[in-house]
Order: sequence, then C-alpha cells, then structure tokens
Amino acid sequence: VEKLEQLYEGKAKKIYATSDPNIYWVAYKDSATAFNGVKKAEIDNKGILNNRISALFFQYLEKQGIPTHFVEQLSDREMLVKSLRIIPVEVVARNIVAGSLAKRVGRPEGTVLAKPVLEFYYKDDELGDPLINDYHIAALDLATPEQMDTIASIALRVNDILKTFMADLGIDLVDFKLEFGVHGDTVILGDEISPDTCRFWDSETKEKLDKDRFRRDMGGLEEAYQEILRRLESKLAN
Ligand code: C5P
Repeated sequence: VEKLEQLYEGKAKKIYATSDPNIYWVAYKDSATAFNGVKKAEIDNKGILNNRISALFFQYLEKQGIPTHFVEQLSDREMLVKSLRIIPVEVVARNIVAGSLAKRVGRPEGTVLAKPVLEFYYKDDELGDPLINDYHIAALDLATPEQMDTIASIALRVNDILKTFMADLGIDLVDFKLEFGVHGDTVILGDEISPDTCRFWDSETKEKLDKDRFRRDMGGLEEAYQEILRRLESKLAN
C-alpha cells in the first residue's frame, strides 16, 4: 500500500491514510508527554521502542484470539493497522493501586486489588479525559451497550493474558490503558500497548519500567523501555 495524507497527529503518533481504505499507516514519534500534554520532552528512540513493543504485544494478543488493529510492522517506527473509527472512551484496567487511583481512593501505591478494576475515561484533551461510567457513555451516545459489553470483555481478557505473560518475564502488570475502534461493523483493539500506556514494575525490585519515570522525573526512560523490549524478545524469539 501507498502512504497518503496525514489524518491525525497525536501526542505520540501520526496516522496516515493509505491507498487501501481498510488500512492506516502509523508512525511513532519520540515525543513524550504527561499531564495531558503540559509536560513535554523528546526521548531518543522512544518511537522505535514503542513501535516494536506494541507490535510484539499485538501479535501475541492476536495469537491468543484477541481482535486487534495490527497488520504488520513496516519499519523501525512504522506499522500498518486496520482503519478504525475510534470510540472516544479510554479503558483503563488495574491490578495494583497506582497513579490516579491511589489519589482517588486514598490507598497506597502497590496495594494489590482483590479483583481487576475497569475504568472508563472520556477521550477529550480539552477536558483532560474525565472519568465517566456506563451511564454517561450510554446517555452521551459514546458507544452502544453492546459495544461496551464487547469492550469490557476484551479488556478483561487482555488483562488476564498480559498479566500472566508479563509475570513470566518478571514484571508486574500494574495497570494499562486501551482504546477500541470500529472496523466494518466489529469492535477491535486499537492504539498502542507500550510502556507509555502501561505501568510495569519489576516483580523483584518493584523498579518502575514505564512512563512514570518521565512523569516523576526519575530519568532512565529509554533504558527502562529497552529492558521491557529485551524481556519481550527473550520470550518471543523473532
Ligand atoms: O494516571 P492513571 O493512574 O489513571 O493511569 C492509569 C494507566 O493508564 C497508566 O498505565 C497510564 O499509563 C495509562 N494512561 C494512558 N493514557 C492516559 C491516561 C492513562 O495511557 N491518557
């Protein structure tokens, strides 16, 4: 396929149309942002690392029967994906208390949750992605109840699959964010799965191997992402 006009530029990726209406072209950038874009930096090689890490996660999930938008990795920063109409609901799954949940419910980071928690946020930069629930989603017509059933079921399956997979690599899957879209008439997993969108803690040392290193000015972001990729590749040869 041929790359055509840019459709969208997000904080971490650019999306292009292609000569095939069913396919989009994604280019991962080195930009890092936090706090809804208030904090910004360029991190060497972040785009390359997240493109590769996302490709590996999507391929692994597809093998486990999860429908994703992933088609193929094209180059170090680029992948082809199925064209999606993104549903404006960000889905967060959590296994361990951290980040905004620690603040919201007043429990210390690291508290293991008795069962996974799913949260929904309205994907709107100007509003700062506010927390919403199924009632808001239905009343504002952001997604149908049938779509939300599919989304919740896929999100919980992805959590089970990735929690087990990462535990095997010596990593606690603390939480992560997913986005879904409609391709044809089916809901599939879109966006990216990377240390930008997940919290990964080393199971032994509890060292943070994710974007919290940037959010919290800890340094060592590129090295942490390299470590995640190294562990993934050790398990998923070629
Ligand atoms: O900030 P909070 O604790 O709500 O984040 C939960 C999870 O969702 C984290 O893994 C974070 O990286 C991810 N997230 C994201 N994009 C957002 C908000 C959160 O990837 N806009």
